[in-house]
Amino acid sequence: MILSPSLLSSDFGRLADELKALEQAGLKWVHWDVMDGMFVPNITLGAPVIKRLRKESNLFFDVHLMVQQPERYVDDFVDAGADMVVIHAEATNHLERTIAEIKRKGAKAGVALNPHTPLSVLEYVLDELDMVLIMSVNPGFGGQKFIPFSMRKVAELSGMIKERGLSTLIQVDGGVDPDNTAELVRNGADVLVSGSAFFGFPPYAERLKTFEEVARSA
Ligand code: DX5
Ligand code: ZN
Repeated sequence: MILSPSLLSSDFGRLADELKALEQAGLKWVHWDVMDGMFVPNITLGAPVIKRLRKESNLFFDVHLMVQQPERYVDDFVDAGADMVVIHAEATNHLERTIAEIKRKGAKAGVALNPHTPLSVLEYVLDELDMVLIMSVNPGFGGQKFIPFSMRKVAELSGMIKERGLSTLIQVDGGVDPDNTAELVRNGADVLVSGSAFFGFPPYAERLKTFEEVARSA
């Protein structure tokens, strides 16, 4: 299990320090929530912020674009230093082309699905993906409650991936905490995003240990 803390719940006034603290605490990934005020109600941050903070961190930058027509910004985010660019299936008419473009630029490519979006949209593109993000809340805000049917969705996606002999990662984002971590891992989740249940419980090294212990017990 990889834990990818969502900076949405961190202190935006001290992002450089937060990134250093995560690295020191033993985290390997960090999750950037980019919101455009169109695909989701909120606006957060964009490529210039990530580009500046890339200089401060060796963490794996997992960039979740909650942005309408993400194809407009793929170049910017890869140039800013995103290691993985995750786009929403609901946000583009040209999913295959945008995935190909992310990979052509040299980053890893992921597709995110809102809670109501069926796995069948992945039918023809799954083999091209490094990761699928199952949203377990409706995107736009931190601190929401985990939607229970997401568990079944993770299990079904895991079945699809195994059936095809792929090594695509399954990421889960929204309302993840130590109480649902074991079941998520049992159902096939590889990468867990946690915002409020991570940053709200310092010290970070201890919190990481808690998540890892629960995951190991799965
Ligand atoms: C929701 C974001 C999530 C969010 C998770 O729109 O994509 O990454 O920050 O926060 P928690 O863990 O608090 O649900
Ligand atoms: Zn996210």
